[in-house]
Amino acid sequence: MKAFLISSLLGLATAVSNSSSIGLPADISSTKGASCACKRLSHTSKDVISPNNANYTTQAADKYWDVRADLSPACIFLPSSADEVSKAISIFGSCNAQFAVRGGGHMNYPGSNNIDGGVLLALEKLNDVQVHKDTVEVGPGLTWYDLYSSLEPHGRVAIGGRLKTIGVPGLTLIGGFHYFNNKYGFAMDNVVSYDIVLGNGTQVKASKSHHADLFWALKGGANNYGIVTKFTLRTFDVPKISTTIQVYNESGIPDFLQAVCDMALLDEKDPIAAGMVATVQYNATTKTPSASLLGVQEGISRPPSQFANFSAIPATTRMNNVTTMKQWATNLDSPKQMFRVMFSHKTMKPDPEVLVSIYKAWKDAVDEISDVEGLYPTFVTNVVSAGAARVALTNDVGNVWGLEDSPLILWQFSTGWALAQDDLRIKAWSQQLAENLHAINVEKGIASEFVYMGDAGEWQNPYAGFPKENVARMREIRSSYDPQGTFSRLNWGGFKLGF
Ligand SMILES: Cc1cc2nc3c(=O)[nH]c(=O)nc-3n(C[C@H](O)[C@H](O)[C@H](O)COP(=O)(O)OP(=O)(O)OC[C@H]3O[C@@H](n4cnc5c(N)ncnc54)[C@H](O)[C@@H]3O)c2cc1C
Ligand SMILES: *[C@@H]1O[C@H](CO)[C@@H](O)[C@H](O)[C@H]1NC(C)=O
Ligand SMILES: *[C@@H]1O[C@H](CO)[C@@H](O)[C@H](O)[C@H]1NC(C)=O
Ligand SMILES: *[C@@H]1O[C@H](CO)[C@@H](O)[C@H](O)[C@H]1NC(C)=O
Ligand SMILES: *[C@@H]1O[C@H](CO)[C@@H](O)[C@H](O)[C@H]1NC(C)=O
Ligand SMILES: *[C@@H]1O[C@H](CO)[C@@H](O)[C@H](O)[C@H]1NC(C)=O
Ligand SMILES: *[C@@H]1O[C@H](CO)[C@@H](O)[C@H](O)[C@H]1NC(C)=O
Ligand SMILES: *[C@@H]1O[C@H](CO)[C@@H](O)[C@H](O)[C@H]1NC(C)=O
Repeated sequence: MKAFLISSLLGLATAVSNSSSIGLPADISSTKGASCACKRLSHTSKDVISPNNANYTTQAADKYWDVRADLSPACIFLPSSADEVSKAISIFGSCNAQFAVRGGGHMNYPGSNNIDGGVLLALEKLNDVQVHKDTVEVGPGLTWYDLYSSLEPHGRVAIGGRLKTIGVPGLTLIGGFHYFNNKYGFAMDNVVSYDIVLGNGTQVKASKSHHADLFWALKGGANNYGIVTKFTLRTFDVPKISTTIQVYNESGIPDFLQAVCDMALLDEKDPIAAGMVATVQYNATTKTPSASLLGVQEGISRPPSQFANFSAIPATTRMNNVTTMKQWATNLDSPKQMFRVMFSHKTMKPDPEVLVSIYKAWKDAVDEISDVEGLYPTFVTNVVSAGAARVALTNDVGNVWGLEDSPLILWQFSTGWALAQDDLRIKAWSQQLAENLHAINVEKGIASEFVYMGDAGEWQNPYAGFPKENVARMREIRSSYDPQGTFSRLNWGGFKLGF
């Protein structure tokens, strides 16, 4: 935990520099290890980008979602094969070089996927995709949109990101919330095998029958075990989806949050896969909140039946459609480099009254920081239904979360702002608000300590919310697969398991 805290503080400190002047500033020199690794990589490949290369800023900044994640690596290597990844890992080990790994670049805090003065491994060239009857092999260089596009002609979908440009690898390794979790489980529950490069450069395939311990640990175990060079994912026969986009003004918000709780509580015997992105926005200048629903259901249903409780709320916009996952994702971009963003998230049992009180407390707290330049506050909910957790409880594999089959609401503040000078203020505001409201839920007996890495801020420790025996087992598996500590000592960014 200590190493984790230090890495995020370092990240914040460097983020205070003007991000448009990226390019290895004088005060961040590359380490001896990184110089050694960059030199050796350049001898073996043309795909090594140094700070004076015309493509450096594209790779070190433009490919990141959050402006805060822009850093200044000593060099950037774009491997084209698992063998090249393996060679790079061996070089990092023998040079003792620190490194970071980027898939889709959506993890939002500094150091999770980029590095000052170390080597950045960008996986975009590992972009093979091979569609089989009910599985797909996919490289970590792809986005979910790429994958939904490859599957569309076959009438299949995979369980992955809800927005267009999120990367396949990061989301799959941390869990993966999709619209269809209630029936098919999370992205991690649908991985049939992982091709992975270990800390000593060895390549192995982890599946139910080979390296079963590692296979389990990768289901939610994030970037603690190696670099995944291929995911084999289960796919499902869903040629058509039914969608709904709804927007509500302030009067609709209590019913909207009630309907979110209804979705979490729904536990049908023969479920229809359906889920959503449910968000409240607040314009602190005009003091107007609004809520929005992006709902998706498998199959053809006009209007989509599973969203009936939302559809009963008077809306300012309501658009239903029948389309494909690819077509739907086309319009759901999450543009990169728009803001600096802080996430803070906690979990509770579904309770509409309390959820409304959290929303109101958040809105009042946003008023306290309305002077922040470029403020873009959103209140986001995610649901875990009993059915979503039951997949891992009944598939004979499980995952590291170890959730029981009881419904949960994940609530999150996602706060955007413009200037580095406000970084520490926004972090303190967001963290304290989440902790204070969570403490009230703890007192009420409705809090859960589960924290999802995809919604968490850098100040949070998601592993503290997993069952203790799972964390102990994860650490044992790490000791046996990464005894030299390549993925804790040399690759230390992101949500690391700690010691
Ligand atoms: C706008 C937005 C929308 C989101 N929507 C969703 C959603 O619908 N559902 C959901 O579950 N989550 C969602 N998230 C969270 C998202 O899943 C995480 O940010 C995830 O880490 C993104 O994956 P990536 O490949 O793009 O990230 P990256 O930042 O590239 O990687 C994330 C972490 O994984 C490591 N990593 C990447 N590739 C590999 C690899 N091949 N092997 C080992 N480690 C690797 C990186 O080093 C980094 O630490 C969203 C995030 C944003 C910003
Ligand atoms: C960042 O640097 C650029 C170019 O040097 C300058 O135009 C801009 O005003 C700076 N921005 C901030 C926020 O300091
Ligand atoms: C920069 O990237 C483009 C597109 O990938 C590529 O064609 C070009 O060769 C690269 N330039 C350098 C200097 O590496
Ligand atoms: C808030 O509303 C004002 C006035 O309509 C608009 O200019 C501004 O862009 C809005 N802010 C956000 C964050 O949406
Ligand atoms: C809608 O709400 C009712 C109770 O108000 C609940 O019984 C039902 O399960 C909800 N339906 C859905 C699809 O969430
Ligand atoms: C909110 O929207 C509903 C439905 O369009 C409308 O009847 C109501 O007057 C609106 N309320 C406010 C406060 O704008
Ligand atoms: C509705 O679906 C059709 C068919 O996929 C698609 O062409 C169209 O863009 C969709 N419309 C909206 C508003 O999403
Ligand atoms: C690499 O590490 C794995 C896991 O610890 C081990 O099984 C394997 O023997 C190691 N290979 C070499 C060449 O050291």
